[in-house]
Amino acid sequence: MTRLFIPLGFAALAWCVACSPMAEPAITQAPSLGKRATTCTFSGSTGASQVSVSQKSCSTIILSAVAVPSGTTLDLSDLADDTTVIFEGETTWGYEEWSGPLLQISGTGITVKGASGAYLNPDGVRWWDGEGSDGGKTKPKFFYAHNLASSTITDLYIENTPVQAVSISGCDGLVITSMTINNEAGDTEGGHNTDGFDIGDSTNVVITGANVYNQDDCVAVNSGTDITFSGGVCSGGHGLSIGSVGGRSDNTVDTVTFENCEVKDSVNGIRIKATEGDTGEIKGVTYSEITLDNITGYGILIEQNYDGGDLDGGTPSSGIPITELTIDNVSGSDAVSSSGYNIVIVCGSSGCSDWTWRKVDVTGGKTYSSCENVPSVASCSEG
Ligand SMILES: *[C@@H]1O[C@H](CO)[C@@H](O)[C@H](O)[C@H]1NC(C)=O
Ligand SMILES: *[C@@H]1O[C@H](CO)[C@@H](O)[C@H](O)[C@H]1NC(C)=O
Repeated sequence: MTRLFIPLGFAALAWCVACSPMAEPAITQAPSLGKRATTCTFSGSTGASQVSVSQKSCSTIILSAVAVPSGTTLDLSDLADDTTVIFEGETTWGYEEWSGPLLQISGTGITVKGASGAYLNPDGVRWWDGEGSDGGKTKPKFFYAHNLASSTITDLYIENTPVQAVSISGCDGLVITSMTINNEAGDTEGGHNTDGFDIGDSTNVVITGANVYNQDDCVAVNSGTDITFSGGVCSGGHGLSIGSVGGRSDNTVDTVTFENCEVKDSVNGIRIKATEGDTGEIKGVTYSEITLDNITGYGILIEQNYDGGDLDGGTPSSGIPITELTIDNVSGSDAVSSSGYNIVIVCGSSGCSDWTWRKVDVTGGKTYSSCENVPSVASCSEG
């Protein structure tokens, strides 16, 4: 059996709190995986350092009530292919002002699951000062789901992240199912920039059945191809966003679908932000079967003059064209506050084309009178 282990892996195995009994390779080795089936359980205050060292030698990793020390990443970025990671009980993190991340998972064929009753509790209240990533305390980002290929994340419950919750980058083939990000306490305790999902440089990402309660974008796609967010509920934040696109290393958004989602008690419903003066493209974005309720700022906001704030840019530009956009069945009758705007579309002279726009009913707020270069199928006074 030892021939399958390098010495480090063998030593690390001894640290496992409850490893499965070592049987003959003929019994435990799954021929299709070509590696040992070994279950390792890590827990308590030593769990994070132990798993970071021995992760490669376990085919199943159980993280049971791990207490991650301050200033430390729960680092699962060196997993063997086809590893299963299961969170059990409450995972906690110590307090330190640093940039994080508090959790990082990378690999190919990775299965991440939350067991029944498990939750990830970074207890972000300790960092919240109303300034988010703009100032005040340095706050750690929570979860880097980076460089995951052909992987799934299911049933994770996350509570009160210091700032941004889940960063998806460099992924190809990632399915996230039934994730809850509950930063509701941030409404009254100073949560800010608590983005739910920030997605960039990724392809084939599907997020279904997410529940996000936060104080910034529910989902923000900055770049990527073939990304779907469906069956989600977004509350308290800034809605379903593309962008801002522009000024990054990757400025292409191609084929992104938001479908069958509810956005409520939020500043915006739908928002597409292209940075003024930059180049890139936003192509094939679809919003369909979206229900809006209690939106204070903008029901639908599409702008090509983004300059760090909504509608405070200058002349819209066409360097990041928004093409093949579909807005279909967006229902928000009386959804926008009387001080907000129902629909805002500000395009450059040749910036927006090939749009599909049907069954849009967004009312309650003001009609924006300065829409620019609106494709003929669309309208800023729909309802
Ligand atoms: C509407 O949403 C805001 C947050 O944007 C919230 O404070 C307010 O309580 C909500 N109103 C209702 C009636 O739910
Ligand atoms: C419109 O979307 C809602 C969900 O937001 C859905 O219940 C309804 O069936 C859709 N209607 C059509 C005609 O597709």
